[in-house]
Order: sequence, then C-alpha cells, then structure tokens
Amino acid sequence: MDERVKKALVDIVGEKNFNDKLIDMVSYSYDASEYTHRPMCAVWAESTEQVSKVLKLANEEKIPVIPRGGGTGLTGLAVPINGGIVLDLNHMNAIVKISIEDRLAVLQPGVIYDDLARALDPHGFFFPPDPASSQVCTLGGNVATNAGGVKGAKYGTTRDYVLGLQLVLPDGRIMRTGSQCIKSVSGYDLTKLFVGSEGTLGVITEITLKINPKTTASTTAMAAFDDLGDAGRAVSETMHSGVLPAVLEILGKEALIAINRNTDLNLPEVDAILLVETDGYTQEETDYQVKKVLEVFKRNNAREIKQAKTEKEAADLWKARKSAYAVLARLNTHQVLEDVTVPMSRIADALIGIKEISEKYDIMIATYGHAGDGNLHPQFVYDGYDPDVAERKKAAGAALFKLAIDLGGTLTGEHGIGLQKAAFMGLEHDDVSMNVMRGIKRLLDPNNILNPGKMALDEG
Ligand code: LAC
Ligand code: ZN
Repeated sequence: MDERVKKALVDIVGEKNFNDKLIDMVSYSYDASEYTHRPMCAVWAESTEQVSKVLKLANEEKIPVIPRGGGTGLTGLAVPINGGIVLDLNHMNAIVKISIEDRLAVLQPGVIYDDLARALDPHGFFFPPDPASSQVCTLGGNVATNAGGVKGAKYGTTRDYVLGLQLVLPDGRIMRTGSQCIKSVSGYDLTKLFVGSEGTLGVITEITLKINPKTTASTTAMAAFDDLGDAGRAVSETMHSGVLPAVLEILGKEALIAINRNTDLNLPEVDAILLVETDGYTQEETDYQVKKVLEVFKRNNAREIKQAKTEKEAADLWKARKSAYAVLARLNTHQVLEDVTVPMSRIADALIGIKEISEKYDIMIATYGHAGDGNLHPQFVYDGYDPDVAERKKAAGAALFKLAIDLGGTLTGEHGIGLQKAAFMGLEHDDVSMNVMRGIKRLLDPNNILNPGKMALDEG
C-alpha cells in the first residue's frame, strides 16, 4: 500500500493498532456471508477522535472505509468488496454508563451483546433484541444492521431501543442524534435513519439504549405439526388469542433432523414444530398465556404438545433453536441463510411457497425462524462447487425474494441487504424511494468512501 497513507494512519492510531499483514487481511476479507475480498489494511480505533481522523484522511484520499464489529453479519456488509481500510471497532468496548433511574445504558460500539446482558442482569434489567450470535456480535453491528432475535414478536428489534447515537460522518465531522429521554419528537429522527444503515452513512462511536425490566416468570411449550399449512395458520391465529408470546419460533423438518443429530433432545421429525415462550411476573400468568396459545395450536391439528417442566429443559430447547444455523451449515459445502419476512396473515402461504421453490429447483431449503413476527429463515444448503447446483440455487433465491414481495413482505427482517440482496432492492422499493436513499447517501458521503458497494446505493 501507499507508504504515505500508511504513515498517516500509523500517526493516528499508533503502530500497534495498524495492521497490513497478509494473513490478517485474509481474516478481514470475510464475514458470515458467501462473499470475500481482502482490504488493503486494518486499524483498531480507540476513540471517537481517532475514528474522525481516519475518516477525514480516507475521505481526502478517496479510500474506502469498512466499519467492522464481530464480523457475524450474514449478508456481506462487513466485506471490503472494493478493498480499502477496515475500521475495527472491537477495542472501543466500554460500557460507559448504566442508569436504571433513566432506564438506559450508554456504551461504545465494540461491546459484545452478552457482556451487556451480564452487566444489566444484576439490576434486573435486559436489552431485548437478542441475535443468535449474542456471544460474539457487537452492539455497534447490531445497531448498524437493526438486528433482531427470537423476541421480536413481543419486544421488537434494535431500532425500537436506540434513543441516541454519537456518529462520525464520512468527512470526519462528529455528530450526536436523539436524546437521553424515553421519548422525543425533536426534529427529524436521524437516529432511526442511521439504525440499519449498514455502515454506509456514518460510523457509530457511542450508543444510548433504552433497557427493560426483566420479567420473573416464563413458560415454554412445543407442539408438532404434520402439515406446514397448519403450523402457519396456528401462528397467524395466535394473534387472535389475546396473548402475545415473548417468543414464537418455527423449526421445519430439515432443521429438526440436523438438531437431533447434534443434541439428545429427540425432537419429533415432523413437517414443523412450533416453540412458544410466554413471559410475565407469576407462573399462573405465564401458564395461562401458554394454555391460550396451545388451544389455538390444537385447533390447527397440533399433536405431541409438551410443556417444559424445568428451566433447564426450556433453556436446552432455546439453545438448540439458536444452533439451527450452525448445525445446518455443516451439512454441505455451501449455505446461505435468508430472512424474508411476511405479514402475519401470510405465514402459511410463505411456508408452502418456500417448499414449492425447494421442490421446483431441486435444492435443499431448511426453513425455521421467528414465526411470531413473520420473519422466516429459509437456509439454502447445497454443493456450490457444482455449477448446475449453483445455477439452481441462484434461481431459487430469486424466486424466494419474489415470493416474499408478492405476499406483501420484505426482503429482510433482520440481517440486512449488504451485498447478498443488493440486486433485489428494486423489487421492494420504487424508483422514487431508491433515489431518495441514494440522495441521502450522496449528501453525507459524496465521495462514496463509507462501506461502498452495499445496498445498491452506488447504482443509478
Ligand atoms: C437466527 C439467526 C441466524 O435466528 O438470525 O438463527
Ligand atoms: Zn434470526
């Protein structure tokens, strides 16, 4: 790389925080998606001021900058597809403040989700959106992707909890958005604009999150369905039961088989099981809620209905559910996890449609996901080294996105667009809204240095 730029970067972050070793650049070339491209170098930032100086330099030199947290993103949004500088934020990992009185936590972007959970726990509080990668993903990444998790149906996603941000814009200017209040309608909602912007508009250097008091009781149950349509209808109908489960997850047959291979849970290998958790403050309350949900399941032909008897039994089920992605990924040389989301009334149609796509293109699609908020995870598991299979996978992927949009759904409920879905943005967003998005990008990042190539923002 250019020695002059290298020296300028070392002057900003120090020798120990600059890295251009080939082996490490290979590590920085990928995330959890199928994409890969090596950066020119990486820097660890230790302060907002350093982030600002790095961006100012990169903007003047017109070098791409790719902000990076845990690297667990599934759509290629941390992949330096045009090369450039990886801005690693993992060293900015301080929990600045927890204020129970104000019901908020202030933290740096490199804080790992589970570390925040452990810090909040003694106060009897929690931050609800809990991605499956909670052991390693960073809050900066969660905010940048508007990450979800299994509790979305009742508790929403990251966006619903971000009260304010400190950000560095691509030209190095430092900006604050939002407030430390639980509510505010002061000015445009710039906070929400940056949440889910996938590192294309600014680099997050501080986050103020709303936190929730923990519930003290929960009940977990599961039911088996021999028919996907029945399972889908049971989910939609649950919304009429008067009860809003904290978690309502679906696991399709392929996922059940893969989980059974890796645990001793012995789940029924039926077309689908639904897992439900209700939460509250007394056991009577949560048992009552589960009873109402199970009545709906029974009306839709559920069998093998089981309630977890101990906390451990429930915890094992949720752990197994969270392992679905990893255990399925091991089944073949290639896998891609999608996260199309449909309105609650269309879940049965989506499940049946995905099965039809799998049959038509003769490709394994294991479906599971957050049924309670319409967010499904069809996971393609295939041998991508076989050109014929790769071609069929591509066509099946396009058919999946079309299905979701035809059902009134969206391309992505929680993983983001990144590189993976960039080509399909036009399916969901009309030309006017695409132009508005590109206009915002140009306003904040006229030289297109911040995470370029993502979200179809560079086209048009
Ligand atoms: C899940 C992640 C991968 O729900 O979104 O398992
Ligand atoms: Zn998920």
